[in-house]
Amino acid sequence: RGADAAVSDLAGKHVVVSAGGTREPLDPVRFLGNRSSGKQGYALARTAAARGARVTLLSANAALPDPAGVDVVHVGTAVQLREAVLKAAADADAVVMAAAVADFRPEVYATGKIKKKDGEEPAPVALVRNPDILAEVSADRQRPGQVVVGFAAETDDVLANGRAKLARKGCDLLVVNEVGERKTFGSEENEAVILSADGTETPVPYGPKEALADRIWDEVVRRV
Ligand code: CTP
Ligand code: CA
Repeated sequence: RGADAAVSDLAGKHVVVSAGGTREPLDPVRFLGNRSSGKQGYALARTAAARGARVTLLSANAALPDPAGVDVVHVGTAVQLREAVLKAAADADAVVMAAAVADFRPEVYATGKIKKKDGEEPAPVALVRNPDILAEVSADRQRPGQVVVGFAAETDDVLANGRAKLARKGCDLLVVNEVGERKTFGSEENEAVILSADGTETPVPYGPKEALADRIWDEVVRRV
């Protein structure tokens, strides 16, 4: 409905959306990253703005133009994204974590480029855990009634994994999609099930990322 009807059901609300994928640097020229394009998060930001929200988009390495009428904050790493989310969430009515956050980062950052040496095997890369931003925001609501939404891309037992993840994270809604060879990453379309902490399951058929975004906002509007 949001896409064609002139709805302003998010007027007066501040929503925070994270998008893209974090990059965890190994040295000045290399990083550990992921395949998230940022398109779903940007679609969420555009549709929320169209529905009247004040939108803060926290963009991690998405190669996409800043959407009009949206406050965009560019970040690189998971630690930087966490700082930006906690700051923006302070007065937010909803926080949607569409970004793919690296679970681990290299334990050490080499300030100079890592070089290979003749006859030497490469040193293993030691990793440490990144903070879980979604779990933290869910546990520590900055404002009464703040709605927190997570995403999960799963390959097997999609719904069972999604339910378990929803409970583990403590968020209100979890948007679960199945990933495979051709599915989701970088594509213009998406298919998902929106799971809620109150037990509902809302399947969203394969279609434009804007349509999924509007279905997610429909569920958020009901709860804010
Ligand atoms: N997320 C987060 N901080 C992290 C990892 C994930 O905020 N360090 C958020 C993502 O933005 C997403 C949700 O948590 O909204 C689920 O991410 P996912 O990677 O599926 O969850 P994990 O708990 O990392 O589980 P897995 O081991 O399956 O990767
Ligand atoms: Ca993860």
